[in-house]
Amino acid sequence: MNAVPIRPRKVAFDVSAVPRHWNGGDPVLTRFFDALSVHFPEGERFFIQSVRHFQDQVTDPRLREDIRHFIRQEGQHGIVHDRFNDVMAGQGINVERVTANLRRFIRTSQKYLPKKYQLAMTAAFEHFTATLGEAMLKEETDMFREADPVMRALFLWHGVEEVEHKAVAYDLYQTAAGGGYLTRASALVVAMLMVHAVVAPVFINMLRLDGALRKPGVVLRGLNRLYGRGGILTGMLPEFLAWFRPGFHPWQTGMPEKVAAWLEEYGEHGDPMRASAAVYGDAAAREAA
Ligand SMILES: [Fe+2]
Ligand SMILES: [Fe+2]
Repeated sequence: MNAVPIRPRKVAFDVSAVPRHWNGGDPVLTRFFDALSVHFPEGERFFIQSVRHFQDQVTDPRLREDIRHFIRQEGQHGIVHDRFNDVMAGQGINVERVTANLRRFIRTSQKYLPKKYQLAMTAAFEHFTATLGEAMLKEETDMFREADPVMRALFLWHGVEEVEHKAVAYDLYQTAAGGGYLTRASALVVAMLMVHAVVAPVFINMLRLDGALRKPGVVLRGLNRLYGRGGILTGMLPEFLAWFRPGFHPWQTGMPEKVAAWLEEYGEHGDPMRASAAVYGDAAAREAA
């Protein structure tokens, strides 16, 4: 059962003036999130479809409501990331080809994989996005410390909502789909292989387009901030691997305090820019003190 209420938020971000390397001027840290972002709208449509296959079998009214809100949140994520896709297309990235490839890949998977496995994969992807969302809002990560404020706010809003709805696909898989452990465990392995197979080539192409591949020092430093000791992805590992515990449930990890801070500030003014500034501003002020 979901630990916090899921609230769909209709937000919009003016991404028109976002600089090319919006994450602290670092091409690797920027393009890592860009390469994920470009896949979100199609990926999120797949999550919604996977959940819809089982929606009618749910009798619990709370889970039914959670599913409705989950669908609205993911739909809004798609809309917002689509706008940013237009910005990336303007930078010379072949967004149309990337999304067409993903669409083809998803259609083929939907044709051959049982619906229950599609839902297990969705729950697994949702575990990844929630773990990433939690990492964004953890005290020690600060992955957007020097980021463009609009992009930081966009990712924090998305991250918070991923945390809010992190158990929906999981609960649906466990109940309506009668999902078991082995399918669930294998789904995360397959999902992560897919993420790397699909996203990594796009990531590398973006870096090539930026001319960053000609600067090995820049690439190595960036990769170290992702995969090195205390890196963004390495820091996520304990929570990420918790999935493989037989009795795992997404709410066992609770949620970072900054999520609560974001929710409180957003609840007051309904402004994701202010909520983002409150979360990161606090951290900067503490450091200065
Ligand atoms: Fe999402
Ligand atoms: Fe999600």
